Amino acid sequence: MGFHFIPLLLTLLLFSTLPTKSSSQTFKCSSPSTCRSLIDYISPNTTTLSHIKTLFSIKNVRSILGANNLNLSTLPNFTIPAKQPIKIPFTCLCINNTGLSNKQPIYTVQKDDGLYHIAAEVFSGLVTYQEIAAVNNVTDVNLIKVGQKLWIPLPCSCDDVDGVEVVHYGHVVEAGSSLEFIAQEYGTSRNTLMKLNGIANGSSLLAGQVLDVPLQACNSSVRSDSMDSPFLVPNNTYFFTAKNCVKCKCDAANNWILQCEPSGNKPSNRSTCPAMQCEGGSLTIGNTATSGCNTTTCAYAGFSGDQNIFTTPATQSTCPVTTGNCSQ
Ligand SMILES: *[C@@H]1O[C@H](CO)[C@@H](O)[C@H](O)[C@H]1NC(C)=O
Ligand SMILES: *[C@@H]1O[C@H](CO)[C@@H](O)[C@H](O)[C@H]1NC(C)=O
Ligand SMILES: *[C@@H]1O[C@H](CO)[C@@H](O)[C@H](O)[C@H]1NC(C)=O
Ligand SMILES: *[C@@H]1O[C@H](CO)[C@@H](O)[C@H](O)[C@H]1NC(C)=O
Ligand SMILES: *[C@@H]1O[C@H](CO)[C@@H](O)[C@H](O)[C@H]1NC(C)=O
Ligand SMILES: *[C@@H]1O[C@H](CO)[C@@H](O)[C@H](O)[C@H]1NC(C)=O
Ligand SMILES: *[C@@H]1O[C@H](CO)[C@@H](O)[C@H](O)[C@H]1NC(C)=O
Ligand SMILES: *[C@@H]1O[C@H](CO)[C@@H](O)[C@H](O)[C@H]1NC(C)=O
Ligand SMILES: *[C@@H]1O[C@H](CO)[C@@H](O)[C@H](O)[C@H]1NC(C)=O
Ligand SMILES: *[C@@H]1O[C@H](CO)[C@@H](O)[C@H](O)[C@H]1NC(C)=O
Repeated sequence: MGFHFIPLLLTLLLFSTLPTKSSSQTFKCSSPSTCRSLIDYISPNTTTLSHIKTLFSIKNVRSILGANNLNLSTLPNFTIPAKQPIKIPFTCLCINNTGLSNKQPIYTVQKDDGLYHIAAEVFSGLVTYQEIAAVNNVTDVNLIKVGQKLWIPLPCSCDDVDGVEVVHYGHVVEAGSSLEFIAQEYGTSRNTLMKLNGIANGSSLLAGQVLDVPLQACNSSVRSDSMDSPFLVPNNTYFFTAKNCVKCKCDAANNWILQCEPSGNKPSNRSTCPAMQCEGGSLTIGNTATSGCNTTTCAYAGFSGDQNIFTTPATQSTCPVTTGNCSQ
């Protein structure tokens, strides 16, 4: 809706017989910002993680593993069967009331490619060819050149939902699915999905439609002045932060408390990761100490531009309330 579509000239005739998505699927995004986002990709063919990484211009396979909660030892040549949805992590940019993937992925036009083929087949209908044309200033949709680089604008949002910071997930509706089912699977409500997606009562979902599904994130101790704030890791995913030095995962079953630990990775920018001890030095991020009925975990609290990692002790108490010691 935020786009002005380029007039499609007479060449539109060529396209008019092809099936098209009913409308633009952009998500509303009213607060100008960037944030992390997810979208489903459903490959028509058997594919691999490394192919998906290349197609979506993703830096590391492990960010795909984290978004899908796949075992970290999964190799890049791991096979994804045809038609199986994979969550793609990307950065969302919110401008002009619309959220779009931030100048990525970049697709290089191959021999015999057409814009419709790129939109509907290569990117499985996550965008329309008109949207690709609009953001890339393509004025003649039948005229793209081999080797030309095209930005594929995936839909996304950075907006709060009902006052809560969430991760927006572009869920591709499967045949036979329903709002109730999707709401239940992702911990939201039918009404929230209807409001967010402008769905009227009585209208039905279309298979292949991209639905904006807000995912609740784990509660973290990350400070608001941290480089990765707001640090939103949704249920059943993990994510690397602090220049790769820290791995954090969210599991709703763990009371929605973010669980972080040193990643063991080589940091992106220096030879060793900075210290990750809590005050006193006996606990490292992720370590836990028990003292009577108190359990203290050394929690990740963010990182700074000069590459310090912040920590904070987080205490959970199972002390009997009657001691009066446990209000903390
Ligand atoms: C990952 O997979 C390997 C081999 O399948 C297994 O040995 C290992 O325990 C798994 N790790 C986790 C954390 O599940
Ligand atoms: C993936 O690559 C590893 C080595 O890099 C190889 O041992 C394995 O056979 C490959 N698996 C597949 C399915 O190609
Ligand atoms: C945003 O909207 C303004 C006014 O409608 C327009 O001039 C501008 O080109 C748009 N920016 C983008 C990036 O679409
Ligand atoms: C899927 O496979 C078919 C037939 O093998 C091929 O024509 C098509 O280009 C493939 N599509 C993608 C997106 O790789
Ligand atoms: C498209 O044109 C607008 C205005 O002329 C320009 O700001 C923008 O950078 C162009 N986009 C691309 C991808 O060339
Ligand atoms: C969190 O993810 C798990 C694993 O997929 C799922 O079983 C559970 O329903 C999810 N919980 C919420 C509230 O989304
Ligand atoms: C949709 O229909 C249900 C059941 O008839 C009703 O309870 C609800 O208020 C309606 N919602 C809207 C937005 O009209
Ligand atoms: C989230 O964490 C903050 C600070 O650690 C705490 O004050 C707040 O009560 C927590 N919220 C929930 C819902 O657990
Ligand atoms: C890390 O990279 C940034 C820019 O990418 C650079 O400004 C900074 O000096 C680097 N830090 C170290 C310790 O190499
Ligand atoms: C548990 O923690 C509370 C507050 O943090 C403290 O007052 C109390 O003494 C602790 N109890 C034990 C047994 O360590």
